[in-house]
Amino acid sequence: CGTRAARLGTEVRLVMESALTARDRVGVQDFVLLENYNSEAAFIENLRRRFRENLIYTYIGSVLVSVNPYKELEIYSKQQMERYRGVSFYEISPHIYALSDNTYRAMRTERKDQCILISGESGAGKTEASKKILLYYAVTCPTNDHMAILGDRLLQSNPVLEAFGNAKTLRNDNSSRFGKYMDVQFDFRGTPVGGHILNYLLEKSRVVHQNHGERNFHIFYQLLDGGDDDLLITLDLERNPQNYRYLVKGNCPRVSSISDKNNWKVVMKALPVIGFTEEEVQKLLNIIASVLHLGNTQFGEGEEGETYITTETQTSNLAKLLGVDGSALREALTHKKLTAKGEEMISPLNYEQAVSARDALAKAVYGRTFTWLVEKINQSLALKVTEFPLSWLLDIYGFEVLQQNSFEQFCINYCNEKLQQLFIELTLRSEQEEYETEGITWETVQYFDNKIICDLIEEKHKGIISILDEECLRPGETCDVSFLEKLEDTVGSHPHFITHKLANGKTRRVVSREEFRLLHYAGEVNYNVMCQSDNQILSHCFRREEVIDQKRPEMAATQFKNSLMKLMEILMSKEPSYVRCIKPNDAKQPGRFDEVLVRHQVKYLGLMENLRVRRAGFAYRRHFEAFLQRYKPLCPETWPNWHGRLVDGVSTLVNHLGYKAEEYKLGRSKIFIRFPKTLFTTEDALEAKKPEIALTLQTSWRGYRERAKYQRIRHAVIVIQSGWRGMKARRRAKRRRQAAELIRRFLSDTFLLFTSVSNFNFALVVNILPCFCLFVRFIKGFIYRHEEYCPENEYFLDHVRYSFLKNLRQKLPKSVLDKSWPTPPPSLVEASEHLRRLHMRNMVIKYCRRVQPEWKKQMMQKVVASEIFKDQKDSYPQSVGRLFLDSRLEREQINLKVVQTLGSDKVQYGVSVTKYDRRGFKPRPRQLLLTNTFAVLVDRTKIKQRIDYAALRGISVGSLSDGMFVLHMPTEDNKQKGDAVLHCSHVIEVVTKLAMMANKTSYVNINPGSIRFTVARGKEGIIDFIRGSELKVAKGKRGHLLVVSQRLR
Ligand SMILES: Nc1ncnc2c1ncn2[C@@H]1O[C@H](COP(=O)(O)OP(=O)(O)OP(=O)(O)O)[C@@H](O)[C@H]1O
Ligand SMILES: [Mg+2]
Repeated sequence: CGTRAARLGTEVRLVMESALTARDRVGVQDFVLLENYNSEAAFIENLRRRFRENLIYTYIGSVLVSVNPYKELEIYSKQQMERYRGVSFYEISPHIYALSDNTYRAMRTERKDQCILISGESGAGKTEASKKILLYYAVTCPTNDHMAILGDRLLQSNPVLEAFGNAKTLRNDNSSRFGKYMDVQFDFRGTPVGGHILNYLLEKSRVVHQNHGERNFHIFYQLLDGGDDDLLITLDLERNPQNYRYLVKGNCPRVSSISDKNNWKVVMKALPVIGFTEEEVQKLLNIIASVLHLGNTQFGEGEEGETYITTETQTSNLAKLLGVDGSALREALTHKKLTAKGEEMISPLNYEQAVSARDALAKAVYGRTFTWLVEKINQSLALKVTEFPLSWLLDIYGFEVLQQNSFEQFCINYCNEKLQQLFIELTLRSEQEEYETEGITWETVQYFDNKIICDLIEEKHKGIISILDEECLRPGETCDVSFLEKLEDTVGSHPHFITHKLANGKTRRVVSREEFRLLHYAGEVNYNVMCQSDNQILSHCFRREEVIDQKRPEMAATQFKNSLMKLMEILMSKEPSYVRCIKPNDAKQPGRFDEVLVRHQVKYLGLMENLRVRRAGFAYRRHFEAFLQRYKPLCPETWPNWHGRLVDGVSTLVNHLGYKAEEYKLGRSKIFIRFPKTLFTTEDALEAKKPEIALTLQTSWRGYRERAKYQRIRHAVIVIQSGWRGMKARRRAKRRRQAAELIRRFLSDTFLLFTSVSNFNFALVVNILPCFCLFVRFIKGFIYRHEEYCPENEYFLDHVRYSFLKNLRQKLPKSVLDKSWPTPPPSLVEASEHLRRLHMRNMVIKYCRRVQPEWKKQMMQKVVASEIFKDQKDSYPQSVGRLFLDSRLEREQINLKVVQTLGSDKVQYGVSVTKYDRRGFKPRPRQLLLTNTFAVLVDRTKIKQRIDYAALRGISVGSLSDGMFVLHMPTEDNKQKGDAVLHCSHVIEVVTKLAMMANKTSYVNINPGSIRFTVARGKEGIIDFIRGSELKVAKGKRGHLLVVSQRLR
């Protein structure tokens, strides 16, 4: 329990630290709280400081910025997921789980489609982020057996897609070479019930060509490394990747961070889970193998320039694996089919054309297989169409600038450009809308709108894509020069477009004659002219593959543009959340933070603008309810509860906190705080207040608990009471009912008897008659009840006596002090009195038998005291309740010498008294000790006076409440010093005991006004008693001793 409490304590402390004090230690966890929000340096410094502490996540409002740690962090465990479950965004440190949870909850509560856009450059961690989000949903969402399978498939689709669609590039060992847009559908319980993947433009050129240091798609290496010998024999493959031309270009068959063998196993395990049959897996592998064989297909050139295949066995294997006719394949690889004026013509390809056609075929085969694979996964995720909202996840390839940027890079960067536009528009729009709906005046923030670049690329008839389309569809061979010229003519004046010809001296040097340069928002990129035969997706591949379909192709760029348009449409209709991934260094190393690289990304991701927009108005906003809930302890009027309107509560609170007018604004449902400092001060105040709140909560809780306990007990008592009373009442009612029924029956039967003489019923008469007779006797007895006992009233009086005695038995007094006695009927008055006395005597006897000897002694003394003092002395009533003690002096209090002097006369009772001198009335402290035959007055060790009981003439006591008493001694005895004038606070006890011991109870005189006493040798003294406010004994007038007694109530 102790460890748990300690752990809990640590957790609470950690949460508080991360939520509140982390801002002081490792920057701010939300950039909007950055004081110097216009400074890029401050922004990057905050990122760097947090990165150094492994705090890779930071917010800009609701946008999550994530820096790739390039190492495994312990922040993705199940416990962490639980921490973030159902917790508000700002309550806890930033995390991808917080964003996932928030999106999930928003989807459920607002019933609106959500989408999470993950962007960043290649290697920034987009795919990892998307996997973390999926994992969070799979683990934390409610599920059942069936849905668990679906969750499994969702997760298992990842390694398969990554095997076929990811590759090692210079920037990322596991770079996604396709765009993935995945949705997860939830039912009303929040259980994931389906999913769907849309894939965008796979980088097919990688199938046939890789830059130095890069690899082909993972699956090729996985198959060769992981596939068992039998499989490789079936596919006619050799284990060494160096034997395959499509795998040697990058000269990088192995990557230290990747285990192809293990990944192969993972993929082979995942495929059946997703729903691939063994046959389908085999066919899929056939295709992968066929691509490798296609790469090794070589051509020779005949004398007339015609091309022929030199690797015949390779081609036969290929035909076998693809399941196509060998000769048709051979012809397809070496000839082209043209359609002119409705007639088909077949003409041979030259060597270069044949090589291009082969590569195009390989790319097409792989590309279409990939599309088929995605379709297959989609079938297995089987999205059910229901009206419940969806959560979407977009993980698209990041912005790329390579040495050689081809058509595919153009598409990738165009896609990022579009996403950036969407991001700016949506974040700005939502911000603006928020101010509008809340009725807050808004100042427009200047930001760069990259629509101008998007237009340059996609505008109808005037954009680069349109021009490209035209150029490709133009009859005859496509030509780079004419395409470039056309671009210069049409978009040459555009500020974001530069060619060698259009560039000024400095730029001209970095743009070659076959390139054009686009000034993207994220950076400047030179693109190879895309009609060039080097990257002939456009000029050969698509045409070539579509020839087989006999269809006129849609240009790849237009295709891509259209699919992007659709994507933008989808995204615009959702509630977006953003993850902006940042790559800290190019070396894929943990702990390295390359400031230049990060600054570049911060710039092109538009994070500073995002922050400025967020901060332009107000740094912070909270719903009234949430704000009041958090800070209400800081104001006595809002604590513990505010009962008025929320806005008034917030207003009272901020007034109490001393917010200045320029520091905040109240909207319709939210408070907007302009400066982070204001919020920090408030947070600090709350932190300082917490111990006090804790104490209040503790007290309230304890009070509540005790009250609840009391209420429970009270309720139980009431239940028992009412049950008991109910039972009693029911019994009484039953008895009454029975009595009433008896009387009713009796009367009705009597009535029947008298009214239905005609229907005389003998049996009835036999039943009723005795009852009737009794009733008549009873009535008669009642009438004669005051007469002497006679036959007429004997039944009634007996009944009354019987009833009285029965009643008396139950109501007999239980103690001698209880004087109650039931009133007897007149005929029993005398008997009742006898009984009462008998009962009383009986009780007294019983009581006396129970009395102990000490108690008996006490009683006897009390009785004597009563006889002497009752109604005679004011202080007597008070003394009744106080027990007489055996002695008021402890044994040790009596001096040993005195005891020795007394010898065999044992001290029976001792008490401290004050003796007054007979003449001067000087008070002297003394002990009065009583033995069986005499009393002595002792001054410490000395016996001052001995008073023999036999010689005692009398005892005088005043009638007021004082404690004066005089022991009268014989006047003729010269040995005696005269009467002893004494005072004791236990006067009744002392006098009673003395009188009893001396057997002189009748010698006690109670004197109302004064007491006369003799001083030695026959002289007289007088004590006067009067009433006053307090006790006083002093010498009064005429030499009398005046005793003022306190008035008693
Ligand atoms: N949160 C993380 N924790 C640990 N390592 C990470 C994390 N995010 C990324 N990485 C590391 O960075 C590598 C690259 O990440 P990822 O594949 O997600 O990049 P990407 O943005 O998807 O790049 P691309 O655009 O090329 O697909 C991962 O393979 C992993 O090693
Ligand atoms: Mg990726």
